[in-house]
Amino acid sequence: MKIPKLEIGSITADIPIVQGGMGVRVSLSSLAGAVAREGAVGTISSIGLGDPEASKNEYEKASREALELEIRKAKSMTNGHLAVNFMGVLSNVDDLILTAVREGIKMIVYGAGLPAKLPGLVEDPSINLVPIVSSGRVAELILRSWEKRFARTADALILEGPLAGGHLGFSLEQLRNIDDYSLEKLIPEILEAVKPFEDRFRKKIPVIAGGGVYTGADIARMLSLGASGVQMATRFVCTEECGVSREFKQSYLDAKEEDIVIIKSPVGMPGRAIRNKFLKKLDVVDKLQIKCDYRCLTVCKVAEAKYCIALALVNSYKGDVDNGLIFCGQNAYRINKIVTVKELIAELMSELESV
Ligand SMILES: Cc1cc2nc3c(=O)[nH]c(=O)nc-3n(C[C@H](O)[C@H](O)[C@H](O)COP(=O)(O)O)c2cc1C
Repeated sequence: MKIPKLEIGSITADIPIVQGGMGVRVSLSSLAGAVAREGAVGTISSIGLGDPEASKNEYEKASREALELEIRKAKSMTNGHLAVNFMGVLSNVDDLILTAVREGIKMIVYGAGLPAKLPGLVEDPSINLVPIVSSGRVAELILRSWEKRFARTADALILEGPLAGGHLGFSLEQLRNIDDYSLEKLIPEILEAVKPFEDRFRKKIPVIAGGGVYTGADIARMLSLGASGVQMATRFVCTEECGVSREFKQSYLDAKEEDIVIIKSPVGMPGRAIRNKFLKKLDVVDKLQIKCDYRCLTVCKVAEAKYCIALALVNSYKGDVDNGLIFCGQNAYRINKIVTVKELIAELMSELESV
């Protein structure tokens, strides 16, 4: 198969891969910059950049400054295409989006919450707005409301299926019947949902499919189903450029299929993670102590939450995996070595070309 370019509004990437945003410092400038340098889209995550034990003012300021720094560092590495990923449940999400816009980011990716106000916040049409969705129904809901309120549509949609890592846009019940929500079923559904909007706005709304995409053959399958590109995250964790601790990456290398589990998160959505000492501890304790002056998540009920998810993710990032949560996609157990981003993308593209 010939490698198609990926066009997202004002962006054209030579490689049809978006490296998925990975919160709490997993995808920062070193990874996103390296991916963008190879011709794919590199995504910096804006999530969890502040100190979870700081006060409100300190937290917001630290998050904003850290995001500015990461964007500047990534831009100094490459002229390639960079995106920033946001979560709707962050209490400082608007501030972070405006920071990314000020820093010249041209692709805003928004998940975990409906991006109802996004086109009002980012009016510049050269900045591409890309919601993350898990069904045709949600895609339609967002696009209908944007059309009515802002006469604007999305520049692309990321369709995240149930095999993805991190928080998932599916209920526990749906995740028990995972085959009913495969990307093979969801892609046609979402293409049908976006078609009327493409017709009315006379523009293509590319669908980028992610969640369990592992090989070049997987990419080819997504493209043949009508996706314009894929979003991949898990495989990028085990690259030299990903800035997480050695222990975090080793947990991926050591994981067996049965170690990859669905958890309940204080964010209020299920998530996928590696069952490690930390998760086993949560089985037997009522609640871990939480110190939280600044509510980083609008939805977290600190008094009821079993643990602080921001702290648990920071711990893993730093290497204290026994006290940390390790998010991963369903295919993490298949990874058995650390490679460079260049090697990973070359391998994927050679597999894609040979299909
Ligand atoms: C460690 C990790 C952290 C993630 N964090 C986020 C996040 O903060 N926001 C988000 O939108 N998606 C997040 N994701 C989802 C990815 O961006 C991506 O859509 C998904 O994992 C793709 O599936 P794959 O990992 O099987 O390639 C995360 C995934 C992983 C593995």
